[in-house]
Amino acid sequence: ANVGTKPGRTRNFIEKMDETNKNCIVFYGSQTGTAEDYASRLAKEGKSRFGLNTMVADLEDYDYDNLDEFPADKIIMFVLATYGEGEPTDNAVEFYEHIRGDDVSFTNGSSLENLKYVAFGLGNNTYEHYNSVVRHVDETLTKLGGTRIGVAGEGDDGAGTMEEDFLAWKEPMWAALAESMGLEEREAIYEPTFAIVERDTLTAESEEVYLGEPNKNYLQGTPKGPYNAQNPYTAAVAESRELFNSKDRSCIHMEIDISGSNLTYQTGDHIAVWPSNAGNQVDLFLKALDLTDKRNDVISIKALEPTAKVPFPTPTTYDAIVRYHMEICAPVSRQMVSTLAPFSPTEKIKTEMTRLGSDKDYFHEKTGHSFYNIAQFLTVISEGATWDKIPFSAFVEGLNKLQPRYYSISSSSLVQPKKVAITAVVETQALPSQKAPFRGVATHFIAALADKQNNGAKSDEFDLSYQIGGPRARHTGTHLPVHIRHSNFKLPSDPSRPVIMVGPGTGVAPFRAFVQERAKQAQDGADVGKTLLFFGSRNAKEDYLYESEWAEYKKVLGDKFELVTAFSRDSAKKVYVQHRLKEKGEEVHELLQKKALFYVCGDAARMAREVNTTLAQIISEYRKVTPAKADEVVKSMRAANQYQEDVWS
Ligand code: 2AM
Repeated sequence: ANVGTKPGRTRNFIEKMDETNKNCIVFYGSQTGTAEDYASRLAKEGKSRFGLNTMVADLEDYDYDNLDEFPADKIIMFVLATYGEGEPTDNAVEFYEHIRGDDVSFTNGSSLENLKYVAFGLGNNTYEHYNSVVRHVDETLTKLGGTRIGVAGEGDDGAGTMEEDFLAWKEPMWAALAESMGLEEREAIYEPTFAIVERDTLTAESEEVYLGEPNKNYLQGTPKGPYNAQNPYTAAVAESRELFNSKDRSCIHMEIDISGSNLTYQTGDHIAVWPSNAGNQVDLFLKALDLTDKRNDVISIKALEPTAKVPFPTPTTYDAIVRYHMEICAPVSRQMVSTLAPFSPTEKIKTEMTRLGSDKDYFHEKTGHSFYNIAQFLTVISEGATWDKIPFSAFVEGLNKLQPRYYSISSSSLVQPKKVAITAVVETQALPSQKAPFRGVATHFIAALADKQNNGAKSDEFDLSYQIGGPRARHTGTHLPVHIRHSNFKLPSDPSRPVIMVGPGTGVAPFRAFVQERAKQAQDGADVGKTLLFFGSRNAKEDYLYESEWAEYKKVLGDKFELVTAFSRDSAKKVYVQHRLKEKGEEVHELLQKKALFYVCGDAARMAREVNTTLAQIISEYRKVTPAKADEVVKSMRAANQYQEDVWS
């Protein structure tokens, strides 16, 4: 299995470890970067606290036929995310299939009796196959004779406890590992993985300096496709408008023009939006670290270890890194607080930071509901003192890379193949003791672009200097970086099949696309089946999304289209989509008998579950089967893709 080997690079991880003198390898199976981040953190901690010689590795980069030759005095750590319906992440597929094959064999047979490993999984309990990848890997390795050290940890994104689950798991794991490998814990000393090199001969105006450009083609002013997750397309905003009729809440409909690119989409797909951080947040961060005066200084970042990858293109500036590449607005993590404690401006603050970093309850009591990001936290804790002792590398290593955000596309590719619509609620939350409210990074970014486009607001809040204005102006007008992610959430290929859609709030996004598409199919002469949509929102006046459009579709589709609404705050008692679904039980049952497809989009934690339960109740009642049998029917509908979900938490 030497496919994909880059010349000069070995796919033999044991050899690689020998060459670089490592005794601990941390493999990650990661899709969005969280598992990769946890893997780096484990590697770093193993090194600083226990003197392990660690390396981090992408599962995809190696072969596993020699797993049985892994030396007994070394350790493998697995950090594995579970994706979708219990699937491994793309980079873990080969490994997963190899060890779980029917007649798995390794170089000398099939026993892994020398293998010692540690395992942590990242999952979401709102999905049926919760953490199934780490569970299966653990079970398989044990069955093959391997020995797990500590318990197999499971982090739950659904409950929002991923970080705490990770922290709670790793302490006893380290204790067990220290015992097993005879390691002595030492006082953790910060050892940088990256060096920050100041480039005095360059300025922010120098041509080779990256100011947010995602790659070399952009830097040279000649971006080119194919556009994808490594190479976003800077698309023009064709139009945007406010959908709510409210003074405190906002929901934006934005149409994004992809006609200048090779990007294509199909109804039901997702679009990734690459946000940048708001100027006031960038300022606050730089100020907290006393970097305001140096913000435009040019720096390079050097990996101090052969296996570490510099996470963004350099040479660049502090400003550009903070603005375009770091997730600075996420709630501060306890681990980060603990890492930064030694660099506190005073002994008193250090004592407080150390306590916050090590005492979970105290940390939550102090920061629990505040959503403080790192800069807000540091500012509040230090009461005016500056944090000028923290090495910038601690942030390069400790903060996540700014990730693209995915939106369910709310337009039909049949109607507008080169224009992608999104429907985004702008998230805001007031913060105690902060003047500015917490705002969702990407939705705030989208809102600012919409405002710029519609009202000519300059929006220096979001300085996209590599895209608009500024010395690197490549465009005029409003643009945002995007790429497309294909999904399996699809209308039936036969338009005459009925569809039932449940989408409260912005969960209606893909269904606006579905109904738009069915109306077009009808106009083109197709025999379109019943199209039943359940939509819910707070009230009919303020947040009834696409209210006037539904009437237009109704004109085309007639009786074939039925919209059922649930306004939760228009009456004394809450009315939700699942209540309406229940009221329509008989019709739902009849449509299912006619092979209707059933779709749910929106909140995973409660709504999607309750809809699932309601559907099972309907099936039980009208098919006259036991609740247990009805559950099975729903499960088999899911397995057959007759029941499809596009949900988020
Ligand atoms: P609420 O905020 O008034 O409770 C879109 O967000 C709509 O979904 C709102 O009307 C919201 O109602 C409603 N909603 C909240 N929780 C829900 C749940 N568990 N199931 C279905 N709808 C829910």
